[in-house]
Amino acid sequence: MLANTKKILEKARKENYAVGHFNINNMETVQAIVKAAENLKSPVILAISEGAIKYAGLEYLYNLALISSKNSKVPIALHLDHGKDLKIIKRCIKIGFSSVMIDASHENFETNINLTKKIVKLAHKKKISVEAELGTIGGIEDYVSSKKIIYTDPYKAEEFVKRTGCDFLAVAIGTSHGAYKFKGKAHLKIDILKQIQNKVKIPLVLHGASSVPKNIVNLAEKYGANLKGVKGVPEKQLTTSVKNGICKVNTDTDLRISFDAAVRKVIKNQPKDFDPRHILGPARDLIQKTVERKIKILGSDNKA
Ligand code: G3H
Ligand code: 13P
Ligand code: ZN
Repeated sequence: MLANTKKILEKARKENYAVGHFNINNMETVQAIVKAAENLKSPVILAISEGAIKYAGLEYLYNLALISSKNSKVPIALHLDHGKDLKIIKRCIKIGFSSVMIDASHENFETNINLTKKIVKLAHKKKISVEAELGTIGGIEDYVSSKKIIYTDPYKAEEFVKRTGCDFLAVAIGTSHGAYKFKGKAHLKIDILKQIQNKVKIPLVLHGASSVPKNIVNLAEKYGANLKGVKGVPEKQLTTSVKNGICKVNTDTDLRISFDAAVRKVIKNQPKDFDPRHILGPARDLIQKTVERKIKILGSDNKA
């Protein structure tokens, strides 16, 4: 059975560690994440974006997660990432996700509150928890320009959580989605995070948390990728964020680069091999290693 995201994250908040949210699009990625979680006895959150639904189909991805959770000894939750389309959010609630995100962060404060309240009401009826977002995280949500990231206002965050009844809050403290997070030195606003943590007593979520590990980038580039200028969140800053209230850490880009690097390597080294299992198997293995590394950084190993 799928695990309860709220329970997983409330435990993490009490015991001061974070649980990894990892985006899934296909079977290999699901298997890699689940195996990593099982190896390290860690709870884990599988996440599906609206783009993933478009690519693979809601029922396919839901059932991959469901089968994994049925066969596993560790808690595996299923979450809708960046829900913007109300119809999709409702489908995820209906089919039985563990949690959904309503991302109305691009709307004004009152509209964000109203949309979030509406989803909270629908989801809570089915005991499904809700993540909402306040402020803007760069990258895919950066509707204005990458220079215009709006950090979460701690006072507004307090009011937002009170008025919406959301279960987890995604905060904007300087991260952005994708592989190009910082032009200069990486810097998260830990001072803002501390203020939010003082005012908001629910689990906080860090989006855009990929570290873009050098060894994986080097591997991908060795086999032909062009990843000039990529920069992620340094692992030390992730640890600091977790110490200051981040309980859910979202990672997608690191899995994508791992997949890419491993596939490129096989194709280059084995030009006569066209068996998809030989091409995708090493990608699965490398994603597993990447997830294991992340779980250890977040401190959720042995917490299942
Ligand atoms: O937060 C965004 C995730 O990386 C999902 O990205 O919308 O391309 O699936 P996607
Ligand atoms: P990354 O692009 O840093 O992996 O962030 C993923 C994310 O925030 C998914 O919601
Ligand atoms: Zn995100």
